[in-house]
Amino acid sequence: MALITNVSDYEELAKQKLSKMVYDFYALGAEDQRTLKENREAFSRILFLPRVLIDVSHINMFANVLGYNISMPIMVAPTALHKLAHPEGEVASARAAAAAGTIMTLSSWSSCSIEEVSSSGPGLRFFQLSVFKDRNFVQQLVRRAENAGYKAIAVTVDAPRLGHREADVRNRFSLPENVGLKCFEGLDLSNMDKNVSGLAAYVASQIDSSLSWKDIKWLQMITRLPILVKGVITAEDAQLAIECGVAGIIMSNHGGRQLDYLPSTISCLEEVVREAKGRVPVFLDGGIRRGTDVFKALALGASGVFIGRPVLFALAVDGEAGVRKVLQMLRDELETAMALSGCTSLKEITRGHVSTEGDRIA
Ligand code: FNR
Repeated sequence: MALITNVSDYEELAKQKLSKMVYDFYALGAEDQRTLKENREAFSRILFLPRVLIDVSHINMFANVLGYNISMPIMVAPTALHKLAHPEGEVASARAAAAAGTIMTLSSWSSCSIEEVSSSGPGLRFFQLSVFKDRNFVQQLVRRAENAGYKAIAVTVDAPRLGHREADVRNRFSLPENVGLKCFEGLDLSNMDKNVSGLAAYVASQIDSSLSWKDIKWLQMITRLPILVKGVITAEDAQLAIECGVAGIIMSNHGGRQLDYLPSTISCLEEVVREAKGRVPVFLDGGIRRGTDVFKALALGASGVFIGRPVLFALAVDGEAGVRKVLQMLRDELETAMALSGCTSLKEITRGHVSTEGDRIA
């Protein structure tokens, strides 16, 4: 096997290994996929303004997220159906995140159960909540996450319905027999039309599109866990989220899988951070493929980042070891970016270390 030197190498290898149906499901975005591309391109327009002659012989990358100390400001985003990549599924990803000393966010659309992941070993975990029409069921999911020791609920707010992922339509995406949506086990699925839609489509139809800010209040009433809202892009919504009393904001455009022609998350970050005024941490996901991307996000005010697809591709290629390696490569790259910028800790990374002026790029 070719020597893997960066995160994108895993995507190439995963493309060779996975079926077209699964690779496209993981890799692609909604409609024209403009947002998917922007998430990457926007990072490449941000350049470094490093400081020199600073002692960088010791670099500390510890981050604090909601009061928890983690080894680096890079966390695992919730992504659906890890068993399509590897038979150990989310359990392998969770173990890799724990080994890296960081947080894994389990998706409501996971192929291992909440409890399977929590009993896979020690580790800090968040639970991503999709709010379904059946609120008793939602309450049960939250209760299960609490009981299993998850530390926060990241409620997804950019998906009142699923975006048009045309590749999935063309490929007639469906779940193989041996992969299920484990959060839904035990639920009465008797109304489901098994022939036409299948489980994934049935679950998608159960998303509550009436979800609104008052439901964030409701969530706060049913759980003692901190609530993060995942999918905020604008300063206006950041303000509303803070008024609701959320514990933090995850800026996300769902990796370009929901509404297309959204700007990249990184290009909206400063506005949201300005609005937040330090009242809550602002995290970001979307297009992070390099340690330099992490540095840029921190320089523009993020308290940490989440990675989605890189975990899936590494899992597909080499299971838990692959995910460990992806996290290690990003960590090493961030450390190098810090050293070469003259920063010895995360708090030393400032706005002055990057330039967002496109005209500096030839
Ligand atoms: C996702 N994402 C996602 N988000 C969420 O809140 N619940 C989910 O179940 C999923 N599922 C999911 C599946 C797949 C295959 C992908 C690629 C993404 C979005 C995810 O949390 C995150 O926002 C993006 O993946 C971040 O972008 P990158 O890192 O993939 O570029």
